[in-house]
Amino acid sequence: MVTEIRPPRPDEMTAYYRALPYANGLPMWEPADAAWHGGPEPWPPQRTPATPEQLARWAEADVKDESFHPVATFVDGKCVGASATLSFEVTVPGGGTVRMAGVTATGVIATHRRRGHLRQMMRAMFEGALDRGEPLAMLSASEGSIYGRFGFSPATRRTRWELARHEAALLRAEPDPGSLELVGAARAKQAWPVVHAAVRRSRVGELSPLPGRWDGLSDDADGTNGPLRYLVHRDRHGEVDGIANFRLPWSATAGNAGTLVVEALEASNPVAYRALWSLLIDFDLTRTVVAPARPRDEPLRWMLTNPRAMRVTRQSDNLWARLLDVPLALTRRAYDTAGELTFTVTGDRMCPANNGTWCLRAEDGVSATSVPTSVPATRVPADVPATCVPTGAPATCVPTDQAADLTITLPALSSLYLGGMSAHDLAHAGHVTPHTDGAIGRLARMFRTDPEPHNSFGF
Ligand SMILES: CC(C)(COP(=O)(O)OP(=O)(O)OC[C@H]1O[C@@H](n2cnc3c(N)ncnc32)[C@H](O)[C@@H]1OP(=O)(O)O)[C@@H](O)C(=O)NCCC(=O)NCCS
Repeated sequence: MVTEIRPPRPDEMTAYYRALPYANGLPMWEPADAAWHGGPEPWPPQRTPATPEQLARWAEADVKDESFHPVATFVDGKCVGASATLSFEVTVPGGGTVRMAGVTATGVIATHRRRGHLRQMMRAMFEGALDRGEPLAMLSASEGSIYGRFGFSPATRRTRWELARHEAALLRAEPDPGSLELVGAARAKQAWPVVHAAVRRSRVGELSPLPGRWDGLSDDADGTNGPLRYLVHRDRHGEVDGIANFRLPWSATAGNAGTLVVEALEASNPVAYRALWSLLIDFDLTRTVVAPARPRDEPLRWMLTNPRAMRVTRQSDNLWARLLDVPLALTRRAYDTAGELTFTVTGDRMCPANNGTWCLRAEDGVSATSVPTSVPATRVPADVPATCVPTGAPATCVPTDQAADLTITLPALSSLYLGGMSAHDLAHAGHVTPHTDGAIGRLARMFRTDPEPHNSFGF
């Protein structure tokens, strides 16, 4: 038996997709919109296998896409496993960006599971990412028990909340000097990149859009979900500064009638943010607003006369992070406070260069716009641009012979990377062991970020 782990050739793309559950008509892992919204449709939704024409279209697009890096497992020439990374940039604390390998579309056919094929593909994808100068990998986990063993750990959260219209009164505020407009998909496709570009740099965890990110927006109905509708906000000068995608699902049952679902809402300033919500939470002929994929820290709560009216009905992890190159990743972000921390990472079998004791020093007020030359463990290609321009305290991270302040697992360090998880919780659970007084507090203060990291779309 000959096993090969390699990128599929263009003529092997159809076989590659066939290793993925969704290409065969099996459900995506993510609950369908209706179920996620509490709507009337059953889950899993009905799906049909991709047609040969669809597979050919996917292949044509993917082969041309320079951000798409597929890998496959072939056993005796037959494709039995598929995965891929997408090259993104993710906003990190301080406002800079880090190149990131987004692991996506993963499957091993049922007859070949639990034989280590995913592990080998993951290893190949980590190598590829490091060669491209991507010090970080991220993914959405179908099941919470699979990806920890590869070093991934939750780094962002997603919250679903509901608000009954009769309880949704807003506190008084200055009148909005701007304007709102309902637009069709064509105009929404123009507005989204403008708003996202403005928001992305100010929200840790936001991703760069890949080409075609908003191509799928449409005015067509999606089953009983109803069509997406688009609400745009402009400032007093007529510049677009906020947008929302929402639906009024056509309900099969009276119990679900009158729900307005806000699928996405982004605004580059508080005035636009408030204006969009103020229309959506008081929409005639509706009873409830549901927002299924929001950050945990939603300022709207603080704009309500009754903050308790916003009821969180589900909270889950969203993106999981995995540091591939500890010193490069840590020097690409800024820190909430200046300080020095020595820490030991052990047990990273997939990226062994991460193991060792590191001295992280976050300075005050020094610009960090280039890759430090004092980072021996990295494999940064010479032509990789320094895209990170942090505004907070920049840092150096070098190997040290000093005694460590703490020992931390690679997944725990990955969870802390964007600053949204609790160092104290991780220590309490045994993922961080302090060796000096106050080490956990210093770790917590240096890595924290406010507002919490959030990514408004996945991959
Ligand atoms: C998830 C999936 C890709 C794993 O592929 P695989 O080749 O079977 O995985 P491996 O054999 O390399 O597994 C590596 C380890 O993960 C474990 N593992 C794999 N899938 C698991 C699962 N679903 N639940 C718990 N553990 C799992 C294996 O037992 C193995 O453990 P070990 O390292 O302790 O020996 C495959 O089972 C699959 O296609 N599942 C259905 C589709 C799916 O869930 N895709 C993920 C989309 S994000």
